[in-house]
Amino acid sequence: MRHFLTLKDYSKEEILEIIALSNEIKREMKSGVFKPYMANKTLGMIFEKSSTRTRVSFEVGIYQLGGIGLFLSNRDLQIGRGEPIKDSARVISRMVDMVMIRTYSQSIIEEFASYSKVPVINGLTDEYHPVQIMADLMTMFEHGKSLESKIAWIGDGNNMTSSWLMLVSKLGMEIRVATPKGYEVPQNIIDDAMNFANESGAKIIFTNDPKEAATKADVINTDTWVSMGQDEEKERRKRDFKGFIVDSSIMKLANKDAIFMHCLPAYRGDEVSEEVLEGSQSVVFDEAENRLHVQKGIMVWLDRKRD
Ligand code: CP
Ligand code: NVA
Repeated sequence: MRHFLTLKDYSKEEILEIIALSNEIKREMKSGVFKPYMANKTLGMIFEKSSTRTRVSFEVGIYQLGGIGLFLSNRDLQIGRGEPIKDSARVISRMVDMVMIRTYSQSIIEEFASYSKVPVINGLTDEYHPVQIMADLMTMFEHGKSLESKIAWIGDGNNMTSSWLMLVSKLGMEIRVATPKGYEVPQNIIDDAMNFANESGAKIIFTNDPKEAATKADVINTDTWVSMGQDEEKERRKRDFKGFIVDSSIMKLANKDAIFMHCLPAYRGDEVSEEVLEGSQSVVFDEAENRLHVQKGIMVWLDRKRD
């Protein structure tokens, strides 16, 4: 049995296999074919943080695969009143076939997985957002980009940045990461990425200069400056991130056919300008739709590993 907690645990071949399966399921769906890959199976979806895309895509996704999704908010679960994770994991995983969790620390999801009888999927933690990065890879490919494309990250060194580092270092790609001083990716994640990069030949460059990251890039990425759980730091962050907006002057430094990506929700006027988000290079809504398709691929892949 496999879990999907971080791409650290996945090989290049497995990542590409899941993308190929997701593409196949997407093609079938677009031609009106809904195969019951997970007939009568139940996905438990535990949310300790807010969500639009993750909630809708997982719930619709499992339904389209012939199964059913169970939305479990920590406002209602006993976890919210202090029932231990290890007890909750043993109870819930005796009743459902797969679990998706959105929570705070990665250690929570790891503990849950270690006590779970069924596959666990990370729907975002403070450290990683692996289902989003799979949707991003799928979207990049659909827009004519490849493993040779140069990626730029401009903004916070957050869960999305770490997910990009895992993807790039596993697949042997190139990324330039520009964060303000003091907002770098945690050192343990950099160390892991550098180790994987040594094996795969990936090129990873860190800078504090957004222009350096953007120059001649094929894919420009950013994300909110204030992630969930950081609301109290909002004003300070807005000050510290001055100069890190992805606007048309940044996009002009990239290659002509570069695409702009953002996992959403976006805050116009902070990390991205209205003009770029709504502009012809932006693929953010394809990226959002691909959450549905790629997560169906991930669920079917995990379900097959279980049988
Ligand atoms: N990108 C993403 O995970 O969005 P939600 O927070 O709306 O799920
Ligand atoms: N970095 C953001 C991503 C939201 C999908 C957060 O963690 O809030």
